Amino acid sequence: MERVAQEAPAQAGFVAINTIHCSSAYAGRFEELFRTRAHAIDAMDGFLGMRVLKPTREGDPYLVVSFWRDGSCFQSWVGSEAFRKGHERAFRDMEEAKARGEEPPMHSAFSTYTVLAH
Ligand code: HEM
Repeated sequence: MERVAQEAPAQAGFVAINTIHCSSAYAGRFEELFRTRAHAIDAMDGFLGMRVLKPTREGDPYLVVSFWRDGSCFQSWVGSEAFRKGHERAFRDMEEAKARGEEPPMHSAFSTYTVLAH
C-alpha cells in the first residue's frame, strides 16, 4: 500500500486539485477530518493516491491533490457514493454552520490537469 502511494504521482495521467481556504477557527477540525478521512476513495478504479498539502504561509489555502489514471476515473468518483461518503462530515459541518446563520467554515474550488512532463 505504501509503495503504491509513493509511486502514484509517476503513474498518473490526470490530477485533480481541490483548493480549500478554511477559517482559522476551523483549521484544527479540518486537519482532524483529513487525518481520519473515510478512505472511501481508495477503492475507486483508477485512483492512484492523494496528498493533502498544508500551507507554510498563513492565509494560503490547503491543497488536496488527487492522482488518477485518467479523467473519466475522476469523473466517476465525483458522481459516486464514495464521494458522498468521503465528504459526509465535511458537508455536515457546512450545513450546520449554514443552519446557525454563520459563514461557511471553508471555501473550495477545484481545477483538473493532465500531466505534461515529469
Ligand atoms: C464543497 C466542496 C468540498 C469541500 C468543502 C471539501 C472538503 C473536504 C474535507 C474537509 C474532507 C475530509 C474528509 C471528511 O469529510 O471527513 C474531504 C475529503 C476529500 N476531498 Fe474534498 N471537499 C470538497 C470537494 C472536493 C473535490 C471537488 C475534490 C477533488 C477535486 C475533493 C477531494 C477530496 C478527497 C480526495 C478527499 C478524501 C476522500 C476519502 O478519503 O474518501 N474534494 N474534502
